[in-house]
Amino acid sequence: MQKIFDELIDSFIENKIGIAANFLSENLANQLTQNLLHHFNNHEMKQAGTGNETVALQNKNFRSDKIFWLDKKNNNAFEDDFFKLMDAFILYLNTTCYTSITSYEFHYTMYEKGDFYKKHLDQFKNNDSRKFSFITYLNKNWIAADGGELLIHHPHSQQHISPQNGKSVFFKSNELPHEVLTTNKSRMSITGWLKSD
Ligand code: OGA
Ligand code: MN
Repeated sequence: MQKIFDELIDSFIENKIGIAANFLSENLANQLTQNLLHHFNNHEMKQAGTGNETVALQNKNFRSDKIFWLDKKNNNAFEDDFFKLMDAFILYLNTTCYTSITSYEFHYTMYEKGDFYKKHLDQFKNNDSRKFSFITYLNKNWIAADGGELLIHHPHSQQHISPQNGKSVFFKSNELPHEVLTTNKSRMSITGWLKSD
């Protein structure tokens, strides 16, 4: 894994956005996709808000995705594999980059056809515990015509990232405005934050 962790961290240092094309194995990506679809088909995924509890705005004009939180209490072997991978990445990040990440939170995310998330930052105005955003995509054979790209707004340029299966992206939560362009078909991911409490 160290090679993939280095790929993420090196691209982050170079360009403020870390990208690893195959952060998840195909097998783990498949299993997590099955979990997501199970929650979706059982109507367990809920309209996402745009703030934390104190700013519990549910604004469909700003974002229209649906989410379901991963949780160690779910006792799901594949979620546990994902958490183990994140534990290993965080240990590596804290050791090599002197960050002090102490916890994380992740949710499954479903954007259905027509869904989007307008330009935003990931850190809440009243709580700065989210240090890094970390998103992993679960979409096989994604092509440009499917839309749904992550659009990063750098100070002097824009960067489009397609949500290809197994790819992870990683960036500072308070720094890079970004948006999810309207998707033309179901777009799945695991979205989360690495936190210092
Ligand atoms: C988010 C977000 C980007 C993506 O959930 O905050 O910006 O590519 N997601 O899914
Ligand atoms: Mn975001």
